[in-house]
Amino acid sequence: MPLSATVGARLAIDGGQKVKTTPYGIGKRFGDEELLQVKEALEQNTLFYYKGKKVKEFTAKFARIYGFKNCIATNSGSASIHVALSALGVSVGDEVIVSPLTDIGSVIGILFQNAIPVFADIHPHNYTMDPASIEARITARTKAILAVQIMGGPCDMDALVQISRKHNIPLVEDCAQAFGAYYKGKRLGGFGVFGCFSTNDFKHMSTGDGGMVVTADDALAQKAFEIADKNYYRSGTHVGKSAKFLAPNYRMTELQGAVGIAQLDKLESICQRRTKLGDMLSSLLQDTPGILPYEVTAGGTSTYMLYLARIKPEELRVDLDTFIKAMNAEGVPGGRYLMTPVYQYDLFQTRTIYQNTHFPLEGTGKSYFYEKGLCPVAEEVISTNLSFPLNEFFTKTDIEETACAIKKVAEAYAK
Ligand SMILES: Cc1ncc(COP(=O)(O)O)c(C=O)c1O
Repeated sequence: MPLSATVGARLAIDGGQKVKTTPYGIGKRFGDEELLQVKEALEQNTLFYYKGKKVKEFTAKFARIYGFKNCIATNSGSASIHVALSALGVSVGDEVIVSPLTDIGSVIGILFQNAIPVFADIHPHNYTMDPASIEARITARTKAILAVQIMGGPCDMDALVQISRKHNIPLVEDCAQAFGAYYKGKRLGGFGVFGCFSTNDFKHMSTGDGGMVVTADDALAQKAFEIADKNYYRSGTHVGKSAKFLAPNYRMTELQGAVGIAQLDKLESICQRRTKLGDMLSSLLQDTPGILPYEVTAGGTSTYMLYLARIKPEELRVDLDTFIKAMNAEGVPGGRYLMTPVYQYDLFQTRTIYQNTHFPLEGTGKSYFYEKGLCPVAEEVISTNLSFPLNEFFTKTDIEETACAIKKVAEAYAK
């Protein structure tokens, strides 16, 4: 339906004709390519990564395609971040600066090292960590900065790299949501000492669950490899010796590696398609009353894990929930993607990271509290966020109709 026919028309929620009548594009994510790889994995007669070939091939292929020197497999994105931080020596009472607008997986590794997440505020339109806020949060205890590349797009990496160098604090990238995205021509994952990826089922590529850690530093790569496998020292100079310090079992299985090999052949086109569709939606939503489209960080590209816009409540006659209901009635799914900043999760509010203790928020020489108002921009973004699904199977028409529906609702409810 052309936009001219929708603006001013009666809303579907009020009995009018809905804008989106055809279903969104769908497609198969897994096919014969994955089946063949899994069959080969099973025929190896082992599913253990160190004996088989699939995880090795998967990590080598990811490193080759994306230009990373070393790549280590793990069994989740959370695990990847944990491994990276442990390899950097993050330990009891250290502070790690992180975003409040992310999955809890960004902070799990920090907490399992008994370190403290320190939340920096974010940019109001691209939702990535604000460099000024990061710098303001640095203390003598800061051991790492975790740059969360959110929604498929990059942080201001020039600024973050500069802060990291100035204060001599390592930068780790959480690229779980940002496969294939660039900043000033360079792939995300290549700016930090470590880049961490997730291949859980909601990401651009899926191995069911899984993760990768990439680094240009060979010694750190060896350390990360050992940490992801209980510090077993299967290779290197310490083979067969006892674990030097506590490390988890985050091993990827050959089945995940096998699926990953096939998925990698699709990843680049998936990312490019998402960039095209997401950018298109942004341009169609420009100048819509009451709507703030997502803005990719200057110099970057986004591969849109989803599409997150915001409403401007002061320009609308209705609240966010009413807007969402009207949009859904027009045939466009979506709603509030984000409910609360991570620091407002129960474990931070009750200060009970581990059950029956306030450690490490107490007991390391400093007390930590996570009060409302800690990151005002993040709280504002969350209270106004309006998300839409977006994936590579959507058509150009899907995007046009999505924009039409949003515009129709926005015009109807504009003050
Ligand atoms: C930004 C971000 N970081 C980390 C993670 C954790 O990844 P996983 O679920 O694979 O542990 C996710 C997953 O949703 C994520 O979106």
